[in-house]
Amino acid sequence: MSTKLWAGVFNKDVDAEVLDYTETTKIDTRLVHYDIWGSMAHLIMLNEQGIVAHDAASAIASSLLELHDENEKNPLALNPQYEDVHLNIETLITQKIGPEFGGRLHTARSRNDQVVTDTRMYLREEILNITETLVLFIDDLLQLADETNGRLAVGYTHLQPAQPINLAFWYSAYASMFLRDVERLRDSFRYTNVNALGACALAGTSFNINRELTTQLLGFNSTLYHSLDATSSRDFVSHAISSFAIIMSNLSRLAEEVVVWSSHEFGLLTVDDAFATGSSIMPQKKNPVVGELVKGKVGRVYGALMQILTINKGITLGYNCDLQEDKPMLWDSIDTVKSSVSISHRQMTTSIYQSERATELCWKNFSTVTELANMLVTSKNIPFRDAHKISGTLVRKLAEIQSDLRNFDYIQKYLAENSITLSLSEIRECVSPDKVVSRQSSSGGTSPKAVSDMITDMRNSLSQHKLWIDESRQKLKIALSTTRSRLQKLSQI
Ligand code: ARG
Repeated sequence: MSTKLWAGVFNKDVDAEVLDYTETTKIDTRLVHYDIWGSMAHLIMLNEQGIVAHDAASAIASSLLELHDENEKNPLALNPQYEDVHLNIETLITQKIGPEFGGRLHTARSRNDQVVTDTRMYLREEILNITETLVLFIDDLLQLADETNGRLAVGYTHLQPAQPINLAFWYSAYASMFLRDVERLRDSFRYTNVNALGACALAGTSFNINRELTTQLLGFNSTLYHSLDATSSRDFVSHAISSFAIIMSNLSRLAEEVVVWSSHEFGLLTVDDAFATGSSIMPQKKNPVVGELVKGKVGRVYGALMQILTINKGITLGYNCDLQEDKPMLWDSIDTVKSSVSISHRQMTTSIYQSERATELCWKNFSTVTELANMLVTSKNIPFRDAHKISGTLVRKLAEIQSDLRNFDYIQKYLAENSITLSLSEIRECVSPDKVVSRQSSSGGTSPKAVSDMITDMRNSLSQHKLWIDESRQKLKIALSTTRSRLQKLSQI
């Protein structure tokens, strides 16, 4: 005879290798807290609906409170013999109070609705944590932008020098990008924060349960009513990992810039010594390993996304064990995205952008010449196409004599040959990198004023996101303490 809780129909115990292959206790350690909370809410509901009488409910309540407190002090060790967190918790309760009472907790529920509910509870908290980590990063990016507004950076397209930009414009570009990641995380939270408990195995139950009550006690925003869908859908996991994957892809672009800008050839960024490592053989080396690793870790999260999409596409409705493979890669992607955001944040605030080098490069790489062409259009009424040609030829000629746009006399003479008169100060105005940056004052442009307007807008969005994080956390905290105190009352009956 099998010793399992579900053993009635079985003649023998599960094969040891099969148990090893199928049990999930290591992965489930992250779910213990939520599984206990879920059981607390379920019990309160069963008792309130008259499904489990006071004497049994009171005994189960005391044992759940004990388990909850034990687990807070010292995370409970799960026994692989009992397959997963759900059967471990049920077994521990039954060991404390005996099968007559303990055996009643699993009325009107199934591991199928439990596991997805636990996962939703854990994931929603991690989404809040990741959102907060990102919000802190954005906060500092905006601070850096504020502090450097008006300093120069090199702007590239095709990784070729394009136009000088405001350093604050560079920092705030990442803030603008990451704010969309926050929006996506909030969407993921919305899809995740939905209660599946009470769906039971797949078809609901004949017991008169109250699903709204557990939704409220577990701090969910709403109930996923359709039981077959609730137990067999993991598209919320796909959505969350896809948000994580996009974050990683955005972080990776920053990481690539850190690696490239900090190379000797660019010399635009100095990474702090504490964020780099040396070579065991080449004494001169300082490698930007944090950036390299952020890029390297992207594949893990893309891998997790590919895995969950693959699991989801191939299962019939109703719980299938394929679904238990949703968690290991989800856990890994949570850890990866959280640590990658945090370390990228610290790397960014400790690195120093070399504005003087950027100024020198902007002179040498002719990246202000677009503004000379613009000036020919505005002050000399020359069609832009002609202005482009005249300016392009100037660049070629200056390059031939190994000079650059600082050679104002040469520029003035060259323009005169083309019957264009510009004063030296007019020339200075349209070819000096700092002046050119200030002139790009269209909304969303790189001028200090345009950037400062964007910083203000982004700060406004950021404070709304902060408020949302606080309110969401507060709601969960209140839900847990309400559940706990109602359970306490029940235990004292
Ligand atoms: N351990 C399973 C998982 O992680 C939950 C139990 C599912 N139910 C079952 N009958 N095996 O998805």
